[in-house]
Amino acid sequence: MPTPGSGRGFIWLGLVLSSVCVALGCETQANSTTDALNILLIIVDDLRPSLGCYGDKLVRSPNIDQLASHSLLFQNAFAQQAVCAPSRVSFLTGRRPDTTRLYDFNSYWRVHAGNFSTIPQYFKENGYVTMSVGKVFHPGITSNHTDDSPYSWSFPPYHPSSEKYENTKTCRGPDGELHANLLCPVDVVDVPEGTLPDKQSTEQAIQLLEKMKTSASPFFLAVGYHKPHIPFRYPKEFQKLYPLENITLAPDSEVPDGLPPVAYNPWMDIRQREDVQALNISVPYGPIPVEFQRKIRQSYFASVSYLDTQVGRLLSALDDLQLANSTIVAFTSDHGRQSMDLVELVSLFPTLAGLAGLQVPPRCPVPSFHVELCREGKNLLKHFRFRDLEEDPYLPGNPRELIAYSQYPRPADFPQWNSDKPSLKDIKIMGYSIRTIDYRYTVWVGFNPDEFLANFSDIHAGELYFVDSDPLQDHNMYNDSQGGDLFQLLMP
Ligand SMILES: *[C@@H]1O[C@H](CO)[C@@H](O)[C@H](O)[C@H]1NC(C)=O
Ligand SMILES: *[C@@H]1O[C@H](CO)[C@@H](O)[C@H](O)[C@H]1NC(C)=O
Ligand SMILES: *[C@@H]1O[C@H](CO)[C@@H](O)[C@H](O)[C@H]1NC(C)=O
Ligand SMILES: *[C@@H]1O[C@H](CO)[C@@H](O)[C@H](O)[C@H]1NC(C)=O
Ligand SMILES: *[C@@H]1O[C@H](CO)[C@@H](O)[C@H](O)[C@H]1NC(C)=O
Ligand SMILES: *[C@@H]1O[C@H](CO)[C@@H](O)[C@H](O)[C@H]1NC(C)=O
Repeated sequence: MPTPGSGRGFIWLGLVLSSVCVALGCETQANSTTDALNILLIIVDDLRPSLGCYGDKLVRSPNIDQLASHSLLFQNAFAQQAVCAPSRVSFLTGRRPDTTRLYDFNSYWRVHAGNFSTIPQYFKENGYVTMSVGKVFHPGITSNHTDDSPYSWSFPPYHPSSEKYENTKTCRGPDGELHANLLCPVDVVDVPEGTLPDKQSTEQAIQLLEKMKTSASPFFLAVGYHKPHIPFRYPKEFQKLYPLENITLAPDSEVPDGLPPVAYNPWMDIRQREDVQALNISVPYGPIPVEFQRKIRQSYFASVSYLDTQVGRLLSALDDLQLANSTIVAFTSDHGRQSMDLVELVSLFPTLAGLAGLQVPPRCPVPSFHVELCREGKNLLKHFRFRDLEEDPYLPGNPRELIAYSQYPRPADFPQWNSDKPSLKDIKIMGYSIRTIDYRYTVWVGFNPDEFLANFSDIHAGELYFVDSDPLQDHNMYNDSQGGDLFQLLMP
């Protein structure tokens, strides 16, 4: 659920990086095309760390766990804004939302903010064949209705044909009729086209890998999966992995006493679904009936397991085609939650460039609207065992100095119909969060959408949670602290 506090994603980089290291010698940067490493970037929509490799005891994710076991797994990675389009445009351009000026779904950064280069564009300009499958950029105006073609991609991006049924009436309800439901376990042979978008995307991605096997150029393949984003439309056999009686409830489902109303997400997109509407849940705080809570969690976990099998098929193909030892795999979500090192998704661009041996884009000046190629994130190469590569002089060595930034816009101080996804013109308040290894600190401040200006002397509310004593962020300590001073101290 998108709030600044949960504006956390996570990235893993590096399947078989160690063998690549051996093959190439980690001291030297890949330079000639024969040495160049391929990139497989897997982007998952709305995945939180409900995965075995993050310690979840219930969720079955053997393929992703297997990938993680060969990879560098980031335990504390944060999205810059936990909304699909702003998050993706941020990490794909390597700029923060305050630079892309995209907080909603209504503008294209190249005309609205600056002509910023993207990760795939940079690889394309460096001799890679770049390919997009499924939901990589958010579709629509935020990527100029073309997934940022032709700049980012060598040829037109692929979208699964069955994508158009995602929000239509294809879910068989208890009444035998078809509905547009939140909970949507399906018999795949019965749905239109007899397939699902993520299955189609996997098949397309495997075909592209087969083509690339004999290619003289290295490739950059981005595969964007739709699940576990709502609606939970997944093959019904995955439900069997999660008998309802085994599903636990969220450990802290109550709205915390000290939560400022501006911080609350009224989950309007969930309420629109037919099965949820039928529950007549009070706006904005609910509660959701306990049995339905269990069903939501069951279907989320089942969707994760379904996603996991798709990731498994894709990675098996990479192995079978003997591409695994020359391919860097990066796996990330656009949203998510965590629990060692803090990293931000905005660092994916410089890190992937560095890992592939390309020149790492220089740090952005402030402001940087006029600069096409620069980075606001950090080159995280140091986290890998690539000690001999040029180190990023800006990467602090002390984890207590690491900070992740995240933001979330609101139209009003109290939850209302558009609180979770306000359009730019309606944004009145911006929540800015900093997360350190010790605490999460958020201030909700006045925001002027015409000038793109936050007013830090106009504080609407604040939040402060200590990680060790309050890991679930239920006890807001803002009013007990010298909040404002602390924030002043920590602003960059
Ligand atoms: C990867 O493995 C294949 C087959 O095992 C081998 O032919 C190829 O040379 C290897 N490539 C690298 C870069 O090690
Ligand atoms: C790649 O090789 C070219 C020509 O040999 C050289 O000028 C360039 O600096 C090299 N780039 C990297 C990143 O090593
Ligand atoms: C934006 O960048 C692209 C890719 O480098 C370039 O082709 C295009 O001309 C640029 N547009 C403007 C308006 O500078
Ligand atoms: C966006 O797409 C339109 C229509 O295809 C095109 O005319 C326009 O040049 C594109 N914008 C940019 C910045 O490339
Ligand atoms: C459900 O829980 C029971 C009791 O803990 C356990 O024996 C069973 O294996 C679980 N079922 C699944 C599918 O995880
Ligand atoms: C929905 O709930 C409201 C109170 O929250 C109640 O007044 C109304 O009658 C309910 N509607 C239905 C159809 O149950």
